[in-house]
Amino acid sequence: MLKDIQNEIIKLKKEKDICILAHSYQSEDILEVADFSGDSYALSVKASKVPNKTLIMCGVRFMAETAKLLSPEKTVYLANPAAGCPMAEQFSKDYITKLRENEYKDYAVVAYINTTTELKTVCDVCVTSSSAVKIVNNMPEKNILFIPDCNLGSYVAEKCTDKNIKLLNGGCPVHAAITAEEAMEAKKKHPEALLLIHPECKKEVTALADFAGSTADIMNFAKESDAKEFIIGTENSIVQHLQIMCPDKKFYAMSKSLICNDMKLTTIMDVYNTVMGVGGEEITMSDDTIQKAVKCINKMIELG
Ligand code: 13P
Ligand code: SF4
Repeated sequence: MLKDIQNEIIKLKKEKDICILAHSYQSEDILEVADFSGDSYALSVKASKVPNKTLIMCGVRFMAETAKLLSPEKTVYLANPAAGCPMAEQFSKDYITKLRENEYKDYAVVAYINTTTELKTVCDVCVTSSSAVKIVNNMPEKNILFIPDCNLGSYVAEKCTDKNIKLLNGGCPVHAAITAEEAMEAKKKHPEALLLIHPECKKEVTALADFAGSTADIMNFAKESDAKEFIIGTENSIVQHLQIMCPDKKFYAMSKSLICNDMKLTTIMDVYNTVMGVGGEEITMSDDTIQKAVKCINKMIELG
């Protein structure tokens, strides 16, 4: 039954010239029908290069918006319109505009890609978790306001010591909910395992990591390492994906609660309905918004 649905999706996407993009936090059955999977950075770069006329994003809304910003001439669908990222909505365009005008006049504003398109229109450069340190280091400005994730921001500040980085109180509710006690508990339970942590986690949690990095960095580290056991400190779908990719190694979740409900909203049936033309939501935005917001994505690609 699942195989039939997957085969139908694969047939239809070829007939209709559709490219399916899936974030690594999607389920295995979706990754199997996707043309590309990866973290936010890989997907945004892929979205700018694929020749297909239609893109379907299996992930959350800001990812589909990013694909549209980079390919405004393409038709872009979000496979499940209810899938949003709570962090992306944390600061409004008006709030950041006022901060820039009043408190942070001499600061460049760096926006994590997990932000709305509207907010990106008033920011200078985007970063993803894979590219943040490199991009901030490559920026000519010394004074930087990093929004919205204060945990990723403080990780970047630690690595970019010659920058003056200010943070706001935003972050990923899934990663930031994990405590240092939980991380230590996982280490105690699996003493032979290396602890790999996403820097969206709190500073004191990331400080316990044997390796800290983006989703792609964590996956690459686990695949290439000689170690045999790993505790995964990011969304729990990565535990399952790595276990399938590396059957001779063992992967454990750092916490049972590392589950992003928004990422879990998209199902294979949403993908099927979207390729059928009866589901998903087409992402639309004005030319003016595209022109303003795409500047900080292009700046990210230029500096990264
Ligand atoms: P990356 O895909 O950039 O690692 O970010 C993780 C995440 O939380 C995506 O929403
Ligand atoms: Fe947003 Fe966090 Fe979910 Fe990623 S894991 S989509 S940052 S809520």
